[in-house]
Amino acid sequence: MKLLIDDANIEKIKTIYQYYPIDGVTTNPSILAKSGRNPYEVLKEIRAYIGEDAELHAQVISRTAEGMIEEAHKMAEILGKNTYIKVPTIPEGLKAMKALSKEGFKITATAIYTPMQAYLAAKAGADYAAPYVNRIDNLGANGIDSTKMIQDIFDNNGFKTQILAASFKNSNQVQELCAYGVGAATVAPDVIENLIKNACVTSAVEDFITDFEKLCGEGKTMLDCQ
Ligand code: E4P
Repeated sequence: MKLLIDDANIEKIKTIYQYYPIDGVTTNPSILAKSGRNPYEVLKEIRAYIGEDAELHAQVISRTAEGMIEEAHKMAEILGKNTYIKVPTIPEGLKAMKALSKEGFKITATAIYTPMQAYLAAKAGADYAAPYVNRIDNLGANGIDSTKMIQDIFDNNGFKTQILAASFKNSNQVQELCAYGVGAATVAPDVIENLIKNACVTSAVEDFITDFEKLCGEGKTMLDCQ
């Protein structure tokens, strides 16, 4: 499962990239709005930091397919070849996906709340379909089960489209989908940190260091013991 950062704050992105194996960054208009800055300025800053080979996902805003297609051209030109154009999975979005996929654009079908939206996006040529796990839970449905059903739909119908699971609020949601083998997850920085945060692990590592220092002296490491 690929792991992406769902945030546009460059400082947070740098912190997470420093420690964790990350495949790219996703944004949406609400995430960009938090910056209060020009969206291209923010997205270009992210692209410069993550490099041209990493995935960068950015969303179109237009309500019509024609507008979405025009935006996609401008975004890909400015943000580089490995930019995934996020297109909302509504009728106009499906129309745009069909056209953009024929033109060779990389497409992430977004705002997916139901498995049938994902099915239609896959048929329309999307590379990724992004179900909103936690938002589905908040509707009284089950985001994990819906996402697993989407995976089954893709597998059983021979679609090449991958899942980019989104909208996570806890590490268990990520773990469940990782175990199921979905293609990718985009996760907010605090939830990524919680994937590994564990007092037992910290304590075990500290015990190893304490024992070693008892053996070789305070502050000593394997560099000092020959
Ligand atoms: C990604 O495609 C979505 O825009 C994002 O993960 C939504 O997350 P939220 O439900 O936390 O806003």
